[in-house]
Amino acid sequence: MDSIKIWSILAVILTGSICEAYRILVIAPIPSGSHAILGDACVTTLLGAGHEVVYVTAMPKRLKPHPKLVEVDVSVNAKYFPTNVINLTNFLENKTDPPGAVYFLDQATVYCIETINHTAVQKVLNDGKKFDLVIAEWMFSEIYAGLPALLDCPLIWFSSMEPHGMILSLVDETPNLAYNADFGVNFVVPFTFWERAQQLGMSLFVNLYREYYVYFKETEIFNNLYEPMMKKVGRTLPPYAELRYNASLVLSNSHVSLGQATRLPQNFVSIGGYHIDPEIKALPEDVKKIMDNAKQGVIYFSMGSILKSKDFPQKLKMELLSMLGGLKQTVLWKFEEDFADLPNNVHVLKWASQQSILAHPNCILFITHGGLLSLTESIHYAVPVIGIPAFADQFVNVLRSEKKGFAKKVNLSNDMAKDLKAAIEVILGNPMYKEKVKELSYVYHHRPIHPRKELLHWVEHVVETQGAPSLRSPALQVRFYEKYYLDLALLIVILLYVLRRSCKWVKSKYLSSSNKGVTKNLSDKKNK
Ligand SMILES: *[C@@H]1O[C@H](CO)[C@@H](O)[C@H](O)[C@H]1NC(C)=O
Repeated sequence: MDSIKIWSILAVILTGSICEAYRILVIAPIPSGSHAILGDACVTTLLGAGHEVVYVTAMPKRLKPHPKLVEVDVSVNAKYFPTNVINLTNFLENKTDPPGAVYFLDQATVYCIETINHTAVQKVLNDGKKFDLVIAEWMFSEIYAGLPALLDCPLIWFSSMEPHGMILSLVDETPNLAYNADFGVNFVVPFTFWERAQQLGMSLFVNLYREYYVYFKETEIFNNLYEPMMKKVGRTLPPYAELRYNASLVLSNSHVSLGQATRLPQNFVSIGGYHIDPEIKALPEDVKKIMDNAKQGVIYFSMGSILKSKDFPQKLKMELLSMLGGLKQTVLWKFEEDFADLPNNVHVLKWASQQSILAHPNCILFITHGGLLSLTESIHYAVPVIGIPAFADQFVNVLRSEKKGFAKKVNLSNDMAKDLKAAIEVILGNPMYKEKVKELSYVYHHRPIHPRKELLHWVEHVVETQGAPSLRSPALQVRFYEKYYLDLALLIVILLYVLRRSCKWVKSKYLSSSNKGVTKNLSDKKNK
């Protein structure tokens, strides 16, 4: 064996990996804290395994510089974020309904166009360097499905929510609506008759809108975006209708301990919790001191990164503050502005390292908006929850948590201070909530492989098998009417109809003439 071989074998042993380093394009252009956390964690995981990453992000400069990381800044996308719609003041004072699926479908295209057309992104796409894989966040649009065709590599969708119909339909089929709550609904299984009907109605409406309005609109956009780029590299663009359903895998930020035991296709992989760093970051000194000294425990209150507690109406703010001030526990409230006179037990944090707070043994309750990341962290660190859902999947997340027995739901309303107080008393007065969250935490942690390792495993699988064709669901190859045997049903109906007509015809032609004969004979007899 020559020395080069020995050295390369040694290098492999030392780096602890035999998998090659890939060049991966990660697209996470949604300008929101939680989406950025998910994108960042994916990139960190890939870099940690030695891969090279080009990261298109709307929230750049959050990661440590790395020799194998190139960030492409699309923070201009922030100007499209509907802060004027998704906003506590709006929900509470103007009483506007939270936006639904149709709103998100309309909104999504804007980000895609802006991102693909961005000069910095165009530069990356047109510089001729090879990519081994595209990982794109699916957020109500499949326009990024053109990228793998352009770059001639496989595609993995990344999904930030629990499995739902729209994402599953891209790699398999819409799950049975009778027992699979969609992401935007406000109820959980088992559904009542009307809930079941509502699910079906909503799903039909949203899917018709998606397939017959959004899809036609997007096809044109899709062609306009990719055709010129494809022409440059001398290839023709496959139809959008085909590329939409050509992703190799879905990496999903979900886990059965949080959602439900949904039946999933082979190329749908749940890696919920992968965003949590196995190493707990140290708390800032002042926060650590407050938490260490909290004899009665700490209640942590945060409405997440999109909703701002400062947008609570003034009266509600004051009521919440006086209610929290009356508790014997210590309260850490993530709040973006200062209060004039805070009660002794309430501390306001403008920025909070949420995971480290939840990881502290004195943290006994988490009051949250019910975002999936917050709920994942509460299960990871086994802290019971009060959920105040405001929009998107938060309603169904909180209802599921309540059903699982580790959470209580409080409705977002102008007089919620008293409801919140009652819920705090219920949760802290009953050890069942803590027991339940510990049980779920066990299920959550008890996996054959850490979610970050799982992410790397499937990335490697997709690249090495050139798109994991063996994992593809056969459901994608059958049409709607074939799946439900509607063609056969139609054939049977036609045959039955033809049979009936022929019977009638035969009857009228032969039977009726001999019948006439019989009647004639009878009447002849009578007359005699
Ligand atoms: C679909 O994906 C596979 C795997 O990445 C790829 O080989 C194939 O060319 C793609 N099909 C089209 C029409 O681009």
